[in-house]
Amino acid sequence: MTNRTNKNDQALVARAKAVIPNGMYGHMSVQARMPAGYPQFIERADGVHLWDTDGNRYIDLMCAFGPMLLGYGHRSVEAAADAQRKQRNTATAPAPVLVDLAEALVRQFAHAQWCVFGKNGTDATTLSVTIARATTGKRKILVAKGAYHGAAPWCTPAPAGVLAEDRAHLLHYEFNNVASLTAAAAQAGDDLAGVVASGFLHDAFRDQAEPTIEFVQAARALCDKTGAALILDEVRAGLRLSLAGSWAHLGVEPDISAWSKAIANGHPLAAVLGNDKFRNGAEQVYATGSFWFEAAPMAAGLETLRVANEVDLPAKLKASGDRLRTGWHRQSQAADFKLRQTGPGCMPMVLFDDDPKLETGFRFTALALDEGLYLHPWHNMFLSLAHDEAVIDEVLEITERVFAQLAD
Ligand SMILES: Cc1ncc(COP(=O)(O)O)c(C=O)c1O
Repeated sequence: MTNRTNKNDQALVARAKAVIPNGMYGHMSVQARMPAGYPQFIERADGVHLWDTDGNRYIDLMCAFGPMLLGYGHRSVEAAADAQRKQRNTATAPAPVLVDLAEALVRQFAHAQWCVFGKNGTDATTLSVTIARATTGKRKILVAKGAYHGAAPWCTPAPAGVLAEDRAHLLHYEFNNVASLTAAAAQAGDDLAGVVASGFLHDAFRDQAEPTIEFVQAARALCDKTGAALILDEVRAGLRLSLAGSWAHLGVEPDISAWSKAIANGHPLAAVLGNDKFRNGAEQVYATGSFWFEAAPMAAGLETLRVANEVDLPAKLKASGDRLRTGWHRQSQAADFKLRQTGPGCMPMVLFDDDPKLETGFRFTALALDEGLYLHPWHNMFLSLAHDEAVIDEVLEITERVFAQLAD
């Protein structure tokens, strides 16, 4: 792509500065954290494509930071949501689809015997922790250092406005490090309510890592011994790696799992699933919100789950991820760059060696953007069902040119 303009985007950015703190909040504050020239606003999305407000089109490898699982505007998901919305969406009491979806999720995941819905991942992780405490009557929660579990005071990475008391009962361990998990548990003593872990190590700015069998078994054994809840945060990885849960291949089931992002292909929906050991806490906790009973996202969730099962989504995503990873490996070697590709291929994380300030990564992603490819320099990316072989090949054609420009 040549002569990419961003006049309209810049005009919106200027207007936003007047009425929105900092011009934008949270992870979408792209001006501060992304290479110059990234559009802050996206006007249209369809399939794998995004269009900014200046009419530039990009192949999107971020999938809305995860929620887009099957393609933007997926026909049968949108039809299910539309049909439900026409009947009713937010109304005075929940719709029957709430029970349909809860049954489907409980059938889908071996540990699940009940389900509570919310909206965002933060709802799901916060509720999971609250349910663990309500059930056990204990206070301490173990979380992995550097892991992201949401934007509430107990877990936000930004200290502003957060009190020491909000985090008084958090203890930290290192993901995949059994000794540190054991040490954190020892610190909790007989006050341990839960252990929170992500499906894999997917922290920003660093190499990703699959969970080791030793680590997940140790976490399971610790919770079995103490009665604490093993809480699996599936918000980011959920449904992409496995339709049985991200640790199912390791033979370990959580007590509680937290879901959001992809479960309704972009419609606002979160879920907490749990086993009967923790039903009592789930029954006591006051879980609710004005929009938590919206029916259209639940209909979208039911259809998303049906499609994911029908097409064996994780296998498709793995094939696309492998194709992309192999291509990038070949291209980076040919251009004499050392690229570290870590984590599952369908959630690609790409960092360059000898790039402590991410200068090469920023240049790589900025060049790709000019060629019509939306990447991320320090966060894992996401593939969807719509990223088929042809799309991956188109991505590779673009990055072939990008690596050549980068080498110049
Ligand atoms: C692993 C994980 N947990 C929780 C959250 C919080 O989800 P949300 O932003 O929907 O509140 C995120 C969001 O990125 C996440 O990646």
